[in-house]
Amino acid sequence: MKIAVLKETAAGERRVSATPETVKKFVALGAQVAVEAGAGASASFDDAGYASAGASIGSRAEALNGADIVLGVQGPDPASLNGIKQGAWLAAGLNPFGAGENGGRARVDEYAALGVEALAMEFMPRITRAQSMDILSSQSNLAGYKAVLDAAGEYGRAFPMMMTAAGTVSAAKVFVMGVGVAGLQAIATARRLGAQVSATDVRSATKEQILSLGAKPIFVEKVAGIEGEGSGGYATEMSDEYKAAQAELVSSHIAKQDIVITTALIPGRPAPRLISDAQIASMRPGSVIVDLAVESGGNVEGAVAGEVVEKHGVKIVGHRNVASRLASDASALFARNLYNFLSAFWDKEANKPVLDAEIGDAIRLTQGGKIVNERLLG
Ligand code: NAI
Repeated sequence: MKIAVLKETAAGERRVSATPETVKKFVALGAQVAVEAGAGASASFDDAGYASAGASIGSRAEALNGADIVLGVQGPDPASLNGIKQGAWLAAGLNPFGAGENGGRARVDEYAALGVEALAMEFMPRITRAQSMDILSSQSNLAGYKAVLDAAGEYGRAFPMMMTAAGTVSAAKVFVMGVGVAGLQAIATARRLGAQVSATDVRSATKEQILSLGAKPIFVEKVAGIEGEGSGGYATEMSDEYKAAQAELVSSHIAKQDIVITTALIPGRPAPRLISDAQIASMRPGSVIVDLAVESGGNVEGAVAGEVVEKHGVKIVGHRNVASRLASDASALFARNLYNFLSAFWDKEANKPVLDAEIGDAIRLTQGGKIVNERLLG
């Protein structure tokens, strides 16, 4: 059983899919691990660390040669996989609904044509036993934290209230929109920095979570949102009536905020638009908005992926791939997600992982030269 760890090639991607820690654990399971030279460099893991954990270091072709499982953070360019073993597994964040060069349906077709079994780690079902394998949670958590630091970096004022001999500095008011994994971490981080925090979501279950973190829930009351968690913890597109009520609520609240962090996503659909240009204009100059959904269409009017833009004196931060901005920790957690996944299914006698239907069918995109995933066929 040979596991290959590839160096990421997507623009701006600094993470790596294995660390010396997980390499050591794979070796202890009985696997042979081959790491592409320099794979961990941008996440502060050097080749020597992988080698002393038991990996061989070599070119991409050497790593891929005879590999049974190929690990990645993002899906590798299919052209760079030529010669890969038929039936080899490719486990990574494959972004099959994405557009552009690092995902999308056409790329899945190419993986099928190569004869690999492509496993989309972001399709991991949200069930208790798969929590430790969930790359969306591990990466969103770090992104929520980093979003607050990015906001603090752009903000020309302080977060905590400070009483000094020269006078008092008032606490920053932070509003978090979308209280999933990233939003919860954003609330906790802003609170730790001393901000006054409020937050909103469409799922009623988040109200209690907001309160438990010491923040104030701001909820649409006159139109019902999503009762409880919503299916799989995910939101759906809201009615026009709800959207109008939400816009009204946000308009009155946002004008008094210094920092807004938006994280709202709807699986398989463009991100909901939560902040309009007119609402941005109502904020005081120097305020900062961070749009974590910018790569999925954006929650904020005027946000630009990969840029910090200024509108009406308000900075709108649209960094791409925010988890990659904390490449070392993001890699460590991503690598553990992959290890937890493969080791949970490791069949000692066969010396390889054997998936069950519940998880296998959810994440497997291609097999035997064909696309086999319901979400792509339906
Ligand atoms: P997400 O990334 O899909 O969305 C972020 C947040 O935006 C969600 O809370 C969503 O309700 C909210 N949102 C969507 N549309 C909105 C709108 N129009 N206005 C305001 N907010 C809006 O969600 P994420 O972070 O992936 O997870 C959501 C929930 O899933 C978690 O809170 C958790 O309860 C559950 N979960 C369960 C897991 C498990 O059991 N293995 C693992 C991870 C999450």
